[in-house]
Amino acid sequence: MPDPLLVPSLLAGDHANLGASARLVADAGLPWLHVDIMDGHFVPNLSFGPETLNALRRAGSKLYFDTHLMLSEPQKYVEPFAAAGANLISIHIEPGYDHAATLARIRQLGCACGIVLNPGTPASAIIPLLGQVDLVLVMTVQPGFGGQSFRRDMLSKLVELDLLRQQHGFSFRLEVDGGIDLANAAECHAAGADTFVAGTSFFRATDQAAFAAAIANL
Ligand code: DX5
Ligand code: ZN
Repeated sequence: MPDPLLVPSLLAGDHANLGASARLVADAGLPWLHVDIMDGHFVPNLSFGPETLNALRRAGSKLYFDTHLMLSEPQKYVEPFAAAGANLISIHIEPGYDHAATLARIRQLGCACGIVLNPGTPASAIIPLLGQVDLVLVMTVQPGFGGQSFRRDMLSKLVELDLLRQQHGFSFRLEVDGGIDLANAAECHAAGADTFVAGTSFFRATDQAAFAAAIANL
């Protein structure tokens, strides 16, 4: 299992000053930034676009952009996000499009790739893709909004995916996203997760570096 890593979600940052929010993440000693992209269709909300990533790069951010595409047609947008500075691009399994070809295209564009599961989607849905991805993201809330409550019933899905990872010798990161705080991150870690997206709990933390260190020491 990769070392545990806290990944702050920009969605909970200051939308009038995203550059400053990204700097807070770097100042806490963290290498990754989770960037949520929503289309008002796959999820009932809107957030950022490729220009947000471009602007953060122009403002000097060297963070690893963990880009979570919550889009009905992600295959149409992987190129602009790669060109805008994404390092990893994750796509959902639920919409109907060619998942394997889109993951291959992400890699061809020079990015790492991930596959994402909504709470209602079983682990079995992504088994054929597990050998092709750098990251599997298990949503621990229904995607679309920050600040929701963590779903403990997702722990068994983590156990299942971690077991598949071990059985087949895969090296993907197993990421959780939604309602994550230090206490439930420990539960997720015990279930096999190693990568912890945190929006609300990171940006509201009084000592963000201490939060990051506590996750690293799980
Ligand atoms: C939800 C997004 C999450 C969100 C998490 O649709 O995918 O990344 O920012 O926010 P918190 O940690 O507040 O649940
Ligand atoms: Zn996300």
